Amino acid sequence: MTRIVTIVVRQLPPTSTEAKLELGWQVDENWSPKFWQANGAAVGQHVTSDLVTVPSEFMARHGIIIAQSGSGKSYFLGRLVEELLLKTKARVVILDPNADFRAVNQLKPSIVGGQNEEYPTEELSSYKSDWTKIKKTVFRVNPSGRDGGTQSFELWWPNVNIDVVAQELSLIQRAEFAHCHRFVGLMARLFESSTDHQLPQGLDGLLDRCEQLFFHSKQHDIDNGETFVSSVIDNFRDLFGLRSSREKYEALQRALMPTKYVSDDTGRFYFSRARYFQLAGVLSDRPHAEEYSQRRLTVVDLPSIPDLDTRSLAVSSTLNLAWRVARSEWENALMASPVEDHRVPTFVVLDEAHNLIPNDPRSFSAAAVREQFRTIAAEGRKYGVFLLVATQRPDRLDTQILSEFENKAIMRISSAQVIETIISQLGLTGREASMLQVVPSLGVGRGVLLGRWSGFEPTRFATAARRTVEGGRSLRSEHWTHR
Ligand SMILES: Nc1ncnc2c1ncn2[C@@H]1O[C@H](COP(=O)(O)OP(=O)(O)OP(=O)(O)O)[C@@H](O)[C@H]1O
Ligand SMILES: [Mg+2]
Repeated sequence: MTRIVTIVVRQLPPTSTEAKLELGWQVDENWSPKFWQANGAAVGQHVTSDLVTVPSEFMARHGIIIAQSGSGKSYFLGRLVEELLLKTKARVVILDPNADFRAVNQLKPSIVGGQNEEYPTEELSSYKSDWTKIKKTVFRVNPSGRDGGTQSFELWWPNVNIDVVAQELSLIQRAEFAHCHRFVGLMARLFESSTDHQLPQGLDGLLDRCEQLFFHSKQHDIDNGETFVSSVIDNFRDLFGLRSSREKYEALQRALMPTKYVSDDTGRFYFSRARYFQLAGVLSDRPHAEEYSQRRLTVVDLPSIPDLDTRSLAVSSTLNLAWRVARSEWENALMASPVEDHRVPTFVVLDEAHNLIPNDPRSFSAAAVREQFRTIAAEGRKYGVFLLVATQRPDRLDTQILSEFENKAIMRISSAQVIETIISQLGLTGREASMLQVVPSLGVGRGVLLGRWSGFEPTRFATAARRTVEGGRSLRSEHWTHR
């Protein structure tokens, strides 16, 4: 006899200690925050039910904000990031295309409730000290004192993602390029692990010596072990000092082995690319992985990077670092008992997401970057890496990734075609799909939460005030609209 067993899957309620992220305000039929309509409403006087909140546990999914230009996506994204940083232990990495988070170290002066349509949930004094304590860094090319807390990039050349650099090359040359990069990576590790003070210092030292060794190995028979090691000792004695052991030279020979497969031209091209990115100002002088793990917020200021190739390199390498750290933490966690698992999730935040995760990448490097996002979208949950993106063009965003977003916020969209795309690509049905009828008429900062973080019950909201200064700027009409 066949028995039919019905399994009811219920969502577990969040534990009591879990924080609730305060994303917005409950709204009335005119989409005005109900709390702020009452006479005498004042900052901090509300109760939790006046707010639209999301249990922090529900954030552990990929999330997307969709709205047309000027409707308040970036502002809402900013509030979300602030809540994640203030209320949880999560790590946040922002790939910032509009310099919107450049001023993330600066808090706005106290906002008077409801003024300028900004609706704060608390006084500046109640979060100022917590915000200041959060370890955060904005990376940009040529940081200046005026930026307030920005820093030079920390990309270590041996760790950069070679796929985006080798974009112009043929398949064979790309393989050669990868061999060359492997050689430089092995050399960097050899230098780092050695206690010898005579080793070359910094990126300049590493690239200079690697380039010399590369061409030395091209002119000598690397397969002839004894003779080759002697020739390296004769020509590069200063590398490990006079008292250096033969094993060190043999390790060096092993590191040089991949160069057998690299032509002189590709080698030359490889080192010139490395110098190009060094001059573009995105490479650091030493490895920095440890500092990344200790930081809560990393912002990559993309507009400060002069050209698209270098931007792709910075994005790709930042993703690589976040991914490698999350994977290695996962591997370590598997060896320890569950109670000792102290990992935190990483949120990769990307505004204007259709530019870096497009349906039709225009170059090999753009495709390589998209591939990294696809990997995070498909496998990120296992390692605790989640995408949090905003876009006004869901029709131009990679459809493979679009289907992975479980948390969605939709703000004003007047295009019926874009609304259709959202419904079909995000698989919205029933109440969630019919809710989208209202989005063409929404005001700035108004929207609906859909999907997991709203318990699959469409939730209308007015964004709660952003606390940090928005960096990106539009034209100031009071300045240019008259003579
Ligand atoms: N909830 C809000 N309360 C008050 N002002 C807001 C709110 N949301 C957005 N704004 C303001 O509205 C303007 C547009 O917001 P925002 O830049 O976030 O829009 P956007 O959707 O990201 O636009 P774009 O696609 O052009 O980047 C900004 O000046 C912002 O300060
Ligand atoms: Mg924006």
